[in-house]
Amino acid sequence: MKLCMIGTGYVGLVSGVCFADLGNNVICVDKDTKKIDLLLKGKIPIYEPGLSELVNKNYRNKRLKFSTNLKKSIIESDIIFICVGTPTKKSGSSADLSQIFNAAKEISLSINKFKIVVTKSTVPVTTGDQIEKILRKKNSSKKFSVVSNPEFLREGEAIRDFTYPDRIVVGSNDKKSNRLMHSLYAPLISKGAQYINTSRRAAELIKYASNAFLATKITFINEIANLCENTGINVEDISIGMGLDKRIGGRFLRAGPAYGGSCFPKDTKAITSTADKFKTNLSVIKSVIRSNESRSNLLLNKIYKILNNKVKNKKITFLGVTFKANTDDMRDSASLSMIPALSKKGAKIRYFDPTGYKKEFSKLKNVQNFENIKDSVQNTDLVIIHTEWNDFKSINFKNLVKGKKFTIYDMRNIYSPSKIRKQGFRYFSIGR
Ligand code: UGA
Repeated sequence: MKLCMIGTGYVGLVSGVCFADLGNNVICVDKDTKKIDLLLKGKIPIYEPGLSELVNKNYRNKRLKFSTNLKKSIIESDIIFICVGTPTKKSGSSADLSQIFNAAKEISLSINKFKIVVTKSTVPVTTGDQIEKILRKKNSSKKFSVVSNPEFLREGEAIRDFTYPDRIVVGSNDKKSNRLMHSLYAPLISKGAQYINTSRRAAELIKYASNAFLATKITFINEIANLCENTGINVEDISIGMGLDKRIGGRFLRAGPAYGGSCFPKDTKAITSTADKFKTNLSVIKSVIRSNESRSNLLLNKIYKILNNKVKNKKITFLGVTFKANTDDMRDSASLSMIPALSKKGAKIRYFDPTGYKKEFSKLKNVQNFENIKDSVQNTDLVIIHTEWNDFKSINFKNLVKGKKFTIYDMRNIYSPSKIRKQGFRYFSIGR
């Protein structure tokens, strides 16, 4: 099939290249000429394991193209995926849909034959209805169908999540588009992926409800971890004990810093704001947002306690500063509130991240980037393991520094407390 992906961010680029790899002809379009120039040179604007290889393979075999010409790309395609951003509005907590509606307007001007217009971006319930309205202004409704097909990719695992999805959700209000979407996904369905067809509005809500539920699960275990710390219990025992109940499931029960990233913080806010519009109070999700927003402060207080409230001039090393491992994404990372707060109190921050220097800290006093773990921990007072990169999972701390031993605050519970303490380090972790 001939596909057009509008937007070459995370969603558009990963889905586009994976569709190409399944044998489709895909044009990835973006207004950002710099991004397209980069992609045409075989360079990938984001860090995602395996993406570069897959892009180059499919570009070479000519199934994948990049373009800034939206009109031409739409005319040449059967299915058009809208994959633009839906960030939180500057004022308030609802999703800013301007990029979605701009894309819909552009599509409405170039419909030359029957097209399926699919929203892959995360959009509030009834957005599909509004896109349909825009398209209908310039076109007969027989010429197009608007479908919701949310993506469930995790950064860092995106290619595997696309290739082996737990489910494929297609929300359509007509049989023809459902049939075509089913055949597009046939290679994945034949490998065992569940395909479910719902109403368009239901598909839109499935995406938000899923992210809000996962955020709730994480926040729940984070609060239980707080209780574990005060009662001498290991939170990991709780996660295992709860997770073995099939009704609960063990995944996303890892306690840690506040959840971050480009999705959970924005989507939890957007779903409560949509619900408010429909006069429905999502009080559980509202309380999850509050709990998560206060988590960085809670962990900061723990850091102050670890340092006996003497933060000034203390050398603190962050291992990893992105919102999680295997990504270079800094959006809503817990480090973005912790590092400035510590720097304000006069701490000397060093950080090492496998994805390198971060411009987000460039204006802060006393924040220094290091190129490797070893240099970043020399003469430091406290090491904070902030993300769970493999690079941080088997560090021989004892061999790393001679003489002075630092304190370790392992926010991802990577190490065994007893083993690390036996090596002579003061060691703290989350909920144990
Ligand atoms: C999330 C969802 O997992 C995807 O299914 C969804 O498609 C995506 O949002 C999206 O809407 O685009 P992502 O934000 O890439 O994916 O990352 P996650 O792996 O879900 O992690 C989100 C945050 O939760 C991170 O800060 C992570 O450290 C934290 N987390 C995750 C925990 O603290 N504990 C866990 O057990 C799992």
